Amino acid sequence: MRKIYMYICLAAAICAAAPGCAARSESDISISELIELTKQSSPIVGYCQLGEESSWRMENTESILDAAQSADVQLMYENGHQKQENQIKALRSFIVYKVDAIVLDPLTTTGWEAVLQEAEDAGIPVILTDRNVLDAPADSVVARVAPDYYAEGRRAAAFVLSKFKNTKGPVNIIELSGTQDSSAAQDRHDGFRETLGTRTRYRVIKSVSGDFMLSKGREAMRELLGQIDIESVDVIYSHNYDMTLGAIEALEEYGLVPGRDVQIVTCEAPDEAAALVGEGKVACAVGSSPDIGDAVLEVVQDVLDGKEVPEVTYVPQTMITRETLRQLEETDDTASEAGSAAPGAKQSHAR
Ligand code: AHR
Repeated sequence: MRKIYMYICLAAAICAAAPGCAARSESDISISELIELTKQSSPIVGYCQLGEESSWRMENTESILDAAQSADVQLMYENGHQKQENQIKALRSFIVYKVDAIVLDPLTTTGWEAVLQEAEDAGIPVILTDRNVLDAPADSVVARVAPDYYAEGRRAAAFVLSKFKNTKGPVNIIELSGTQDSSAAQDRHDGFRETLGTRTRYRVIKSVSGDFMLSKGREAMRELLGQIDIESVDVIYSHNYDMTLGAIEALEEYGLVPGRDVQIVTCEAPDEAAALVGEGKVACAVGSSPDIGDAVLEVVQDVLDGKEVPEVTYVPQTMITRETLRQLEETDDTASEAGSAAPGAKQSHAR
């Protein structure tokens, strides 16, 4: 209703300014004219990001803002700055404003029930991006567009299993976990543990949180180095790239050589990770690009158009290891030998 009222005011203002239209009043606007006006204006989408804790997050925000600009939507943007109460407040303001759809990247898995119910009662579809919600009332969330964090955990563990398959004795693992009660951290944890399964040789001897932040990852690793016998540790499994960078700093400060003294397996595989894998500091990087704005906006548009959308859309995943780098080099060599290398062609890592 509020929007219709906006259109009436707008139409009245246009009419008042138009020559030959001065005799018409607000009540002269027909319903069909109103519907036409409604159709012509682009939908309003409320987007609530969760924070700015990592480089993945910053790029992710940019990607969604850019995609919204190219799409036919008007975006209302709010950032929760790592506080769920800020995100809930933002959602309530979107509801009051009667946006056409809400895009939410939820900090945590729970605590959303009431506000999602309010959105549903107001008839506003909610699309999740990136992280998941576990206490959403039925039908309140219409779709989710995200990386498959569970699969990342599984692939990270599969890499560890194959890396150590010819060794004897225990394989001791330290887990550097992301934000507690976030689905990204939970799924990466579950996928990893479930793939290690009941093999008793593989032991996660310590799990600490670095909150997905470089500084906290470094801090957590420094603390651990003071507490444990690092020589007994074979693998560091980190839930994101920023914490991995922090952990590498702490290990090097301590005089250790990542890749020689301990193997690092990280979630997230930005292009820069290839250099670390090439240097041998990181053994395996697995994850999805934060550049998922177009995929999110496509689903939003489909929802607004009344089309059926999949419950979950997973975005592509990349894995970088010494092996995938070698394969890429070989492909490049073969291509240049055949004289078919497209100049400036972008390399892509194994999916
Ligand atoms: O939810 C996705 C995770 O959150 C990313 O892996 C991490 O970098 C971010 O902070």
